[in-house]
Amino acid sequence: MITTLNRMALLKVVGGIVCGMLLITVGCAAPLQSQNAPPNGKPANTAESSVIGANPAPIAPLMKMDADNVTLGKKVYADNKCSDCHVIAGTGVSVGPDLTRTGADPKHTVAWLEAEIKNPKSHNPKGFMPAYQNKIQGQDLQALATYLASLK
Ligand code: HEC
Repeated sequence: MITTLNRMALLKVVGGIVCGMLLITVGCAAPLQSQNAPPNGKPANTAESSVIGANPAPIAPLMKMDADNVTLGKKVYADNKCSDCHVIAGTGVSVGPDLTRTGADPKHTVAWLEAEIKNPKSHNPKGFMPAYQNKIQGQDLQALATYLASLK
């Protein structure tokens, strides 16, 4: 009786540790997988092998994503004629602030820049920069903000 109880208790402890370790591994590795992938509900062993498969993912693809974003961001900037009112590295018309080093301002995070592009009045109610929330969205918006944030 006692031995059975002990064994069960032991199993619970071991099971708890294994589950805990698995959760930590899966939890840490999940953000490295594709951004929109939902956490998969597969049984433990498949989850573990997919984690091993995901391990080579980390740094390089993230850097590539950023580089791709900057390239797309430049295109969105050009397509929307932001240079009609802004100068970057000597090119453009200086109606609004020069953006050559706009990313060097610690306030100008990607999120702040996205908000500025969507609705400039959210930062400056008296400003006259047009709002782009109906024109620039999703990946384009993120890419444009990432590009501007990279200007330091
Ligand atoms: C009609 C002129 C005009 C156009 C077009 C324009 N802006 Fe602006 N922008 C301004 C002005 C003026 C400001 C200063 C704040 C204000 O008036 O809202 C500004 C502010 C900004 C700022 C904040 C800079 C700072 O240092 O505070 C960013 C970033 C910016 N614009 C990006 C863009 C991007 C990206 C585009 C193209 C999608 C764009 N702007 C198009 C006029 C313009």
